[in-house]
Order: sequence, then C-alpha cells, then structure tokens
Amino acid sequence: MDKVESFKCRILTWDEIAKWTEAVAYDIADNGFRPTVVIGLTRGGWVPARVICDHLQVKRLYAVKTEHWGVTASTDGKALLTQELNASIAGESVLIVDDITDTGESLILAEQHLKTMGPKEVRTATLLHITHSKKEPDYYEVEVPDEDWTWFIFPWNLHEDLRTILPKTLYEPKTVTGIQKGFKDQFQIDVPEELLRRTLRHLAATGKVHKKGAKWYKA
Ligand code: ADE
Repeated sequence: MDKVESFKCRILTWDEIAKWTEAVAYDIADNGFRPTVVIGLTRGGWVPARVICDHLQVKRLYAVKTEHWGVTASTDGKALLTQELNASIAGESVLIVDDITDTGESLILAEQHLKTMGPKEVRTATLLHITHSKKEPDYYEVEVPDEDWTWFIFPWNLHEDLRTILPKTLYEPKTVTGIQKGFKDQFQIDVPEELLRRTLRHLAATGKVHKKGAKWYKA
C-alpha cells in the first residue's frame, strides 16, 4: 500500500483575499511608499498584484514568472525564473507582489533579477508570510509560524489543488463519502460533495482515477 500522506491545508475565501490585499495596500500607502510599477509573480501573485494596483492607483502592472520543481505542498526550495521582465523599470519605484513567502526562493529570485534592471527602489509584498522563509517581505498581512505550516488553497487555485490532493486519499479504493472523510482526516479540510464530484469528473476525464461499482480507484 502507498504511504498515507497527510498535511494541514486550509481553503481560503475571496473575502479573506480581499481583506488581506486591502490591508497590505493601505500599509504600503501609510508607510509613504508610492510604487510606480507593480510586478506580479505568476501565477500566485497575479490577483493580489492587480488588486493592489487598484488600491494604489498604479497603471503599470507587469509579470515575472517563477516556477518550483515540486508540486502542491512540496517544500522543495528550488525555484527558477522562467519568464523575465519584458519592460523597462529604470528609475522606477517597484513593488513585487506574491501570494505567499514559504521558502522565499521566488521572491529572492525575482528581486535579484529586477535589481539588475536599474530601478530606483524595489520593495516586496505578500499576503501571507511563513516565518521559516529565507526572505521576509517588506509588507505582508498574515504571519504563519513555522510550526503552523499549512498548505493554503487560494481561491484561484482551488480546483487544481483539489485535483492534486484528491488522489492522495485513494491509497485504498473509496466511495465519495470515504474520499470526503480522507480530505478531513489527512488534510483537515471540509470539501462540499458537489465540489468533490466535480474534481472526480476532471480526474476521471484525464485518466487519473477510475470508478468500479461505487468505489473510486487511483489509476
Ligand atoms: N506556495 C508555496 N508555499 C505555499 C503554501 N504553504 N501554501 C500555498 N501555496 C504555496
């Protein structure tokens, strides 16, 4: 039998994201920093970066992409910059935005890259910061102590994360109710049945799970 994997997750809501993003934006404004350019790290930083632009009246929003070797909930710190900035930021006050600092690798890579492009200043902001990160952002709203490490399921990544996590509940064949219990026991999240069925349909369509009788099996 596969090893039964278990880690703490939390499903975040759009309301939480809106609240935290606004708090970060006002913190930046109160602090007297006036970014002229915002860079969203894709993919996680895109939505917060766009909303911060709205609060701070910034028109110039650009993207840089960093990627991790690992998958959901991997703590592997190896990040790569896979899309460089494709705009001039010479002399600009730059704010880099991401959703979370966990290893801190993405923010460090992006900051190093942007600093080679002649900006006046570069500052960093995230919604959440896990304290073991190698980099502490200049601005963040929620501090997560190492010992409370959690995989945060952002609303823009909900279906993708559920598709990654669901097969981990199928270390043995399960009914829908059994899978729901697996999410609770192994990952501490309540997943509504409709959402779970939709995730199963997606996974079945790509051949990652299959059904026999009332039970679901990992492919
Ligand atoms: N990306 C990197 N670390 C993460 C975490 N703990 N939760 C959600 N997304 C992440």
